[in-house]
Amino acid sequence: VALKILGISGSSRMGSYNTAFLEYALGILREKGVETSVFDHAAHPLPLFNEDLEREGFPEGAAALKQAIAEADGILFASPEYNASFSPLAKNIIDWASRPHVSGLNNVWANKPVVVISASPGGFGGFRSLVSIRPVFVQLEALILPQQVSLGGAHQAFNEDGTLKDARTAGFLTSALDRLVHVAGRLKD
Ligand SMILES: Cc1cc2nc3c(=O)[nH]c(=O)nc-3n(C[C@H](O)[C@H](O)[C@H](O)COP(=O)(O)O)c2cc1C
Repeated sequence: VALKILGISGSSRMGSYNTAFLEYALGILREKGVETSVFDHAAHPLPLFNEDLEREGFPEGAAALKQAIAEADGILFASPEYNASFSPLAKNIIDWASRPHVSGLNNVWANKPVVVISASPGGFGGFRSLVSIRPVFVQLEALILPQQVSLGGAHQAFNEDGTLKDARTAGFLTSALDRLVHVAGRLKD
């Protein structure tokens, strides 16, 4: 059975650089025979987390999110950097998926291999998004891998054929994805 990697973007913006970088990375995984999918924000909207809402019953979007994470062997998570941290959409996704649910799925991040990536038009590529999101995944007992990739100058980072201009970043991405496949594959066996 093929390894399943779920892509999650912390931006729902049309033309999001993070989503584009995520899609690019998932394309590389597919070339390695990995089965990939992307969590669809439009199909499964997530309200801003509130414990009252949670008590009233889990929103469909949150239940779908938890199911998708639970079914994946690993997660590739892309988040923009907003004001020196990761995006509120990313936090909302992480928080909803950390909560207990009637399906019996509790914190679905636990023991889940995760690689984080970011993209920004700025020179540092959203690096502080990665630095700030990492302890959150640690708290949730996700198996967050040491490898991470930030893509700077994201508005002009790709060649016309869709490949990355910067060979160094492309190399970091390949190593990070190889680690994700390796760890997720070992845990699946
Ligand atoms: C509220 C806000 C704060 C931002 N702060 C930062 C920042 O601290 N560092 C940075 O590199 N870019 C920052 N940006 C610019 C984002 O990197 C840029 O809008 C990027 O395109 C967002 O990601 P997306 O293309 O995936 O939607 C900020 C954008 C917004 C809307």
